[in-house]
Amino acid sequence: MTEFQPRVFSGVQPTGNLHLGNYLGAIVNFVALQQSHDCIYCVVDMHAITVWQDPKELSRQIREVTAAFVAAGIDPVKHIVFNQSQVSAHAELAWIFNCVARIGWMNRMTQFKDKAGKDKENASLGLLAYPSLMAADILAYKATHVPVGEDQKQHLELTRDIAQKFNNDYAESIAEHGFGDAFFPLTEPLITGPATRIMSLRDGTKKMSKSDPSDYSRINLTDDAEAIATKIRKAKTDADALPGETDGLKGRPEADNLVGIYAALSGLSKQDVLNQFGGQQFSAFKPALADLAVEKLGPIGAEMRRLMADPGHIDQILANGALRADAIARPILDGVKDVVGFIRRK
Ligand code: AMP
Ligand code: TRP
Repeated sequence: MTEFQPRVFSGVQPTGNLHLGNYLGAIVNFVALQQSHDCIYCVVDMHAITVWQDPKELSRQIREVTAAFVAAGIDPVKHIVFNQSQVSAHAELAWIFNCVARIGWMNRMTQFKDKAGKDKENASLGLLAYPSLMAADILAYKATHVPVGEDQKQHLELTRDIAQKFNNDYAESIAEHGFGDAFFPLTEPLITGPATRIMSLRDGTKKMSKSDPSDYSRINLTDDAEAIATKIRKAKTDADALPGETDGLKGRPEADNLVGIYAALSGLSKQDVLNQFGGQQFSAFKPALADLAVEKLGPIGAEMRRLMADPGHIDQILANGALRADAIARPILDGVKDVVGFIRRK
């Protein structure tokens, strides 16, 4: 088997407010992986426009996600931070993958079904092809590991399917061009930690999401201490005390979610949290959770605001990251073109 050098890639869409789900499900893991891997973190603006985005707002959001990455502890000098549209390899490889992937695969994606809603015919063609661009994001760097929240699992399986079909369809040419028996790695998803799926504060059966019309459903990274405390105080719960064992959280989605958030923010397990709070009422637990959330998120929000005050500096981070990302992706894309049989300028 061809060996692939370990490399981490992940992306976040610059749409709507970044929230606690994005932070605990994804960004915290992005930060941790910097210790062990070369990492590439991408603000996926081309994915964002699969549904309508106001142009001025889009530019602002690209900078805001970048600020969140840096404020949360991602180092854009040791690792790579950039926005997708600055590196054309993403779009070029996505086209080739559009010709490898099948329409049926795309039609099965639950995110497409959710976002397209009832009127599928009226969804953008980009929304249907979205996972093919996502596969290109990852495979343009031959990334081996992709940290994401639980909701992205299906897209990562599709990324493996595309890599595998490319490796099979072009097997002969891959070998002839000296790439061994596989051109692309079969990327591993990293869906880890106690908070891979943070739920809405208003409904423990719905995922916390940027697009929920109620701002009370989520804690935004830019919320101030008062907003965080109010949202946690108003969060939906049941009437019972917290259980002493994690088994007692079954069938109690709101309780399970709040305990999971506490665990993730404090770096404890859910059982540790219950050892501390089991038997107590939400009236005691919620203020402790609010204090913890303010302690952890407050400094990130403040640093984001500081960074956002200097958009020129953020744009420089993105431009520098894009140059370095391009230098990795370009030779890989050249290899793909050779394998496919395209003729390119040498
Ligand atoms: P998106 O905002 O859709 O670009 O998502 C960015 C990252 O955050 C992805 O890795 C998602 O899986 C993750 N994510 C989004 N919402 C949640 C949530 N409610 N819980 C956990 N992870 C999430
Ligand atoms: N689809 C991801 C989301 O909605 C964002 C994304 C785009 C991504 N390209 C990626 C995540 C590549 C990981 C790797 O959250």
